[in-house]
Amino acid sequence: MPVTYHRSGATGVITIDNPPVNATSQAVRAGLIEAARAFAADESARAAVILCAGRTWVAGADISEFGKPPQDPSLPDVIAAIEALPKPVVAAIHGTALGGGLELALGCHARIAAPGTRMGLPEVTLGLLPGAGGTQRLPRLIGLMPALEMITSARQMGTAEARDLGLIDAVASDDLTDAALQMAERLAGQPPRRTCDLPAPPADPTATETLTADLARKLPGQIAQRAAVDAATEGLALPFAQGMEVERAAFRALMDSPQRAALIHAFFAERAVAHLPQIKGVDPRPLDRIGVIGGGTMGAGIAAACLLAGLDVTLIERDAAAADTARATVAKLLEGAVTRGKLAAPARDAILTDAFRTATDYAALSDADLIIEAVFETMEVKHQVFAELDRVAKPGAVLATNTSYLDVNAIAAATSRPADVIGLHFFSPAHVMRLLEVVVADRTAPEVTATGFALAKRLKKIAVRAGVCDGFIGNRILSHYRAAVDAMVLDGASPYQVDRALTGFGFAMGPYAVSDLAGLDIGWMTRQRKAATRHPRDRVPVFADRLYELGRLGRKSGRGYYLYDGGKPQPDPELEPLLAQVRADLGIAPRDFTDAQIVERTMAALVNEAVRTVADGTALRPLDVDVVMLNGYGFPRWRGGPMHWADAQGLPQILAQIDALSAEDDHFWQAAPLLRDLVAQGRRLAELNEGPKP
Ligand code: 3HC
Ligand code: NAI
Repeated sequence: MPVTYHRSGATGVITIDNPPVNATSQAVRAGLIEAARAFAADESARAAVILCAGRTWVAGADISEFGKPPQDPSLPDVIAAIEALPKPVVAAIHGTALGGGLELALGCHARIAAPGTRMGLPEVTLGLLPGAGGTQRLPRLIGLMPALEMITSARQMGTAEARDLGLIDAVASDDLTDAALQMAERLAGQPPRRTCDLPAPPADPTATETLTADLARKLPGQIAQRAAVDAATEGLALPFAQGMEVERAAFRALMDSPQRAALIHAFFAERAVAHLPQIKGVDPRPLDRIGVIGGGTMGAGIAAACLLAGLDVTLIERDAAAADTARATVAKLLEGAVTRGKLAAPARDAILTDAFRTATDYAALSDADLIIEAVFETMEVKHQVFAELDRVAKPGAVLATNTSYLDVNAIAAATSRPADVIGLHFFSPAHVMRLLEVVVADRTAPEVTATGFALAKRLKKIAVRAGVCDGFIGNRILSHYRAAVDAMVLDGASPYQVDRALTGFGFAMGPYAVSDLAGLDIGWMTRQRKAATRHPRDRVPVFADRLYELGRLGRKSGRGYYLYDGGKPQPDPELEPLLAQVRADLGIAPRDFTDAQIVERTMAALVNEAVRTVADGTALRPLDVDVVMLNGYGFPRWRGGPMHWADAQGLPQILAQIDALSAEDDHFWQAAPLLRDLVAQGRRLAELNEGPKP
């Protein structure tokens, strides 16, 4: 029984117990209706408290029911039934009150929260709007614009802010249940204060239009946020019951939208990546004391991420000056956390004094549980570092490399303990980006893999298992679609048009703006490294080499593909003549591409290489690719990731595009055999998330 009713003195107690997060599944909804009836019929009960067992109050509707036929009773009906009760009901909230969970609390007649409770309406992150009264009750309780800000941003707020806004009535100073029971006793005998009876706030067309315009600018292509604003404002102009109907219709329309399907796929995919069959039941090794080697861009970011998660860090640099620089960089990153309110200044001071050390002697790593190498990207330096680690690290220490592309098996071979070696590929900036590719080499022990996943959890990152290959999942796919993009620029497209077309598709940044951010030296070094093994028919982005040779390294030199006068990227009039010269030198007659062609070719290349990573086991499943591209490469979340997008487009269409393009270049455009097989069998990529490969 996920919902029970009992009485404590003169107060009815309704308890929801539906682990892990007390989502309002059909059984919970039916149980709440029953419990509300029992309370209404219980003449000895003068008021009631609703509380939740376990770690949290209701975290929302049961997302696993979405997309399936709805089952009665609906959540709006359940909440309406509770709100209509003739005796007061208190919501006793702890943990997270999200989505339908917060809406349930809004339908109660008073709300009290435990300290540390977080409250929010995250529906828009799932492509939905609050569909159980959130758009109609919240504005009545806290005002129109605060409510719309909360709904469209999906932001979670703490108890102090919620109290100030009137979202909750009190914060429990001691035991939540006791405090809620006392509140119920105080309210007993009084008429219930129903949120639906509060007057609707007046419309504010100017503020609403500004918000809508902001959303259109910041979240192009996304429909849920604007639908929420429309449903709220339209509904609030009507009596409550009709407002609820407006909300319901808008909720249903979003439920049927491809964006909802994509965003919910992303939600579950991000949780599924952690369920790795190979490490089921395998205990991770300890990871309290972390070693980091190299305090450059990545090493400093990794050290900061570990320190912010409460771990102890020793960072090794080449000499005292570099160690001092690294310490200063880490201190600056922690300062940023203080500025953003993520870390208190005294805690920052304590971290820098007690938890963080820099050194130049590898002996300082002798007691480290897990050591992450982030030195220069050459096999020679990596070999030196791992040979040294083999000498100093304690038995059982996990030895990790943050290499972007290099062969983790070859790095492991520099040690006498390859079972302890793993790739932990962080993304820049490492203390911010949530993705971590856990690169499992041929001889990596399962408990070492489990430790990689445990570290990600500790750092609140999303770990995705990847196999060894050039670039693992993300960089390998990126290299391939970058080649398609560069080929279009060689053939006549402007980098600015490419960036515009791909941000129009929804990518967070265009590929050339990304190059400028990373530094054009990075791409140049990668091309140098691969030059010896390059296929004669691979097309080289000679224009990128020219820019590098001209010292145009991107943002850091003020000039790359774009100009950075005052920091803001501006198109550079000198770029087009440079490109024209390169094309003339190569004997290429430039031609035009439409934005649609740019997107089509980029996506065809991306999907094709992504399918290959699944086929050869680099990625475990299509959903692992989606999670990598969503969290490390700015792929639009509302499209669900490239594999989900490919299924939605239809694999036959993508295969046909690749086959057509192979007439132009049959070296680059070769369809992945797995893609061809899936099309021949009428199957979708999503089927590989569950079952065996064809
Ligand atoms: N429905 C179904 N399952 C859910 C769920 C939900 N609303 N929320 C979480 N879960 C599941 C997860 O899939 C996961 O399952 P797994 O262990 O099998 O992978 C398990 O609960 C634990 O979740 P997390 O790993 O995310 O646990 P955390 O402790 O890290 O986070 C949380 C807890 C903050 C509650 C987080 O899970 C979360 O944000 N959940 C989604 C909340 C949400 O979006 N609610 C709104 C739903 S839409 C809605 O309510 C519509 C309404 O307006 C009508
Ligand atoms: P970086 O050049 O900024 O930093 C490297 C640091 O390592 C320097 O501070 C250098 O002094 C130090 N170092 C070199 N040899 C050393 C040794 N033997 N002992 C101790 N310290 C030594 O390089 P960055 O960008 O931090 O990259 C480091 C690694 O991370 C590379 O393997 C790179 O491919 C990888 N990586 C880089 C990403 C990025 O966006 N920059 C993203 C993900 C991975």
